[in-house]
Amino acid sequence: MIEAARRKAPPASRPHLRGVAEGIIFEDVQFRRADRQVLAISELRLAERRVGLIGDNGSGKSTMLRLMNGLLLPTRGCVEVEGLGTVRHRKDLPAKVGFLFQNPDHQLIFPTVAEEVAFGPAERGISARQARQQAIALLERHGCGEWADRNVNELSGGQKQLVCILALLATEPSILLMDEPFSSLDLPTRLLLYRRIMALPEQVVMATHDFELLPAFDRVIWLDEGRIRLDGRPAEVLPAYRAHATIVGAGDALTS
Ligand SMILES: Nc1ncnc2c1ncn2[C@@H]1O[C@H](COP(=O)(O)OP(=O)(O)OP(=O)(O)O)[C@@H](O)[C@H]1O
Ligand SMILES: [Mg+2]
Repeated sequence: MIEAARRKAPPASRPHLRGVAEGIIFEDVQFRRADRQVLAISELRLAERRVGLIGDNGSGKSTMLRLMNGLLLPTRGCVEVEGLGTVRHRKDLPAKVGFLFQNPDHQLIFPTVAEEVAFGPAERGISARQARQQAIALLERHGCGEWADRNVNELSGGQKQLVCILALLATEPSILLMDEPFSSLDLPTRLLLYRRIMALPEQVVMATHDFELLPAFDRVIWLDEGRIRLDGRPAEVLPAYRAHATIVGAGDALTS
C-alpha cells in the first residue's frame, strides 16, 4: 500500500518551468568552453520587461545573452524563449529575438547605413523602396539622415553603435537582448536612446555597466564567475555590487 502510494506520488523535484509561453527560462544550464565552465544557472525565469545583467568583466553576461538567442547552445540543460527551446527552434529565434552585439563590427553586415537599417523592414515583406524610406525616416528622427549612403566602415565607434541600435529597433523584435548598447555613445545620444528603449512595450534584457540607467529597471542580475550572485530589485542588487566593487578596488589600490 505504502509502496503503491509512493509510486503514484509526483517526483520530488522542483516544479519545472519548461514550455511556459512567456519569458526566458534557464533550466539546469551549464556552458563550457574547452574544459572550463563559463556559466552555470540552475533555474531562472525572466519575465519582467526590463532586466539588467551586471558583473565584472568576464563574469558571463555576453555568454548568458548569447545563450538566449541560440548563438551559443548550452553544454547541459535547456534555455527556452517564450516556449521555444534554443536548440530545437534555433532557426525560429531571430524572428522573435533581436540581438545587439557588444562589438558593432560583429553586427554590421551591409555596406551602407541605409541598407543595414532597411534589412529589418525588408524582412517583414515590404518592398525594397519602402524599406529604404522607412530606414531613412528612422535615421532622420535620430539626427543622422545624412549618413544613409555612407559606408558603415567609415563611421566612428559610437556612430556604428547608434546604427546597430536603430537597425535592431527597425526589426521590431518581441524581445530585445542588448549587450552594452550604450558603451560608446555620447551623453545626448545615450539619453535619447535610453528613453526610446525604456518606452518600448517589449521585453529588454540588457548587459550594462551603466549604473545611472539601471535604477529604472524591474530586475537586476549580478553575475559573478559565471554564476548568479544576486538577483532582485535594483535597489537591492546595485548597492551590493557597488560595495563589492569598492572592496575589490580598494584591494587593488593597496597592493599596487
Ligand atoms: N570566444 C571565446 N573563447 C574562449 N573563452 C571565451 C570566449 N568568449 C568569452 N570567453 C570567456 O568566457 C567567460 C565569460 O565571458 P563573457 O564574454 O560572457 O563575459 P562578460 O561578462 O560579457 O564580460 P565583459 O564585461 O568584459 O563584456 C570569460 O572568462 C571569457 O574569457
Ligand atoms: Mg560582454
